[in-house]
Amino acid sequence: MDRRIYLKAKDMPKQWYNVLADIPKPLPPPLTPDGQPIGPEMLAPIFPMSLIAQEVSSDRWIDIPEPVREVLAIWRPTPLVRALNLEKYLETPAKIYYKNESVSPPGSHKPNTAVAQAYYNKEAGVKRLTTETGAGQWGSALSFACQIFGLECMVYMVRVSFDQKPYRKAMMNLWGANVVPSPSDQTNAGRKVLEMMPDTPGSLGIAISEAVEDAVGREDTKYSLGSVLNHVILHQTVVGLETRKQLKIAGDSPDVLIGCVGGGSNFGGFFVPFIPDKLEGKDIDIIAVEPAACPTMSRGIYAYDYGDLAKMTPLLKMHTLGHDFIPPGIHAGGLRYHGMAPIVSGLAEQGLIRAVNVHQLSCFEAATVFGRTEGIIVAPETSHAVRVVIDEALKCKETGEPKTIVFNLSGHGHVDMAAYAAYYAGQLHDYDYPDDDIKRAQANLPKLD
Ligand SMILES: Cc1ncc(COP(=O)(O)O)c(C=O)c1O
Repeated sequence: MDRRIYLKAKDMPKQWYNVLADIPKPLPPPLTPDGQPIGPEMLAPIFPMSLIAQEVSSDRWIDIPEPVREVLAIWRPTPLVRALNLEKYLETPAKIYYKNESVSPPGSHKPNTAVAQAYYNKEAGVKRLTTETGAGQWGSALSFACQIFGLECMVYMVRVSFDQKPYRKAMMNLWGANVVPSPSDQTNAGRKVLEMMPDTPGSLGIAISEAVEDAVGREDTKYSLGSVLNHVILHQTVVGLETRKQLKIAGDSPDVLIGCVGGGSNFGGFFVPFIPDKLEGKDIDIIAVEPAACPTMSRGIYAYDYGDLAKMTPLLKMHTLGHDFIPPGIHAGGLRYHGMAPIVSGLAEQGLIRAVNVHQLSCFEAATVFGRTEGIIVAPETSHAVRVVIDEALKCKETGEPKTIVFNLSGHGHVDMAAYAAYYAGQLHDYDYPDDDIKRAQANLPKLD
């Protein structure tokens, strides 16, 4: 049996899949703070028109420009791998597959959209991009993409990750980017937070405020977001489209699809190409996994909220813990986000997918089992998916069901070994999200009449 299912270069998708064409109920639109629908011109200071058009498009298929495909071809199509050693170790009748997105140059799924975004900005005459990064995976992906297309890149890196991950910063520097810890003294938003909370670990919400403020303040600059938005999930559908083809080659079809969620991009791009199958009646359990310390979907509220602390972004209807929520400094920095992609939130509200949350210690335990059986050291974010894959495979062991479980291995953890070292030294702790914080988040949501 083939352990690894490869596609030929020519089989890489030529079009992205837009789930908005098939979603049963249309999603509520983004709004201004006073509750009016956002027009494209309002987004123009931060995004090029081509990406704004993708953000609101309801076309089912959107062509991938050839220059984007040429860069993606550096590492795509990525392999789909049968985790035979893990299956044997768990003594499960389940079949476990992983889509290995860790083989990209920056080590995760993130460049699938970074390359597309850098390309469209370059086409629009933009010279410089700003962004935020949590774990550093997104920042390094955008740095790589900007380097390829000859754009300057400015990264606001969440303070706790900046301190925990010096090698991620070095990677961004290698690809020519400028990186500062957030909150920084370079923006009004950053200075304001530093004044109130000089020791804050930072958050993606704060870093987004800084990156947006920087972009709005300069003619030659636009902003780039690595998750949450519709066009980001659109670009990530290369992952699910390839997976679908590869499973067909293997003669299998999925019973369970699993991915970790921060802002929802790796999971969204992985599962949405299977939504038409589910709508046609195929029984697929689609599971989003989030940290218990930042349980946006499983315990948050589905409401309009800002994407950032300083309220610079439009209001999005999504699952949220409140734009002013600063999650504890857990090691899966890329999952420390208060909001969720409206597409992922909307599909959960419509009952097509579900969310669970898990504690970080059990995730590192699962990642250790995976590393010892399959060899790959996964990113702490990805370890959340691995935890639930193992749990589901163990359920199959109890019931005897030979389910096909497929998960998105969103990134490797080679630059996260400090987190593993802290885990093996017994220095990591689990955090619960307190009930009081849910009430507080609810109280601070924007009031719309
Ligand atoms: C490896 C990896 N997986 C998952 C995530 C979570 O982001 P998203 O939900 O947008 O995929 C991140 C974010 O930084 C990441 O680096």
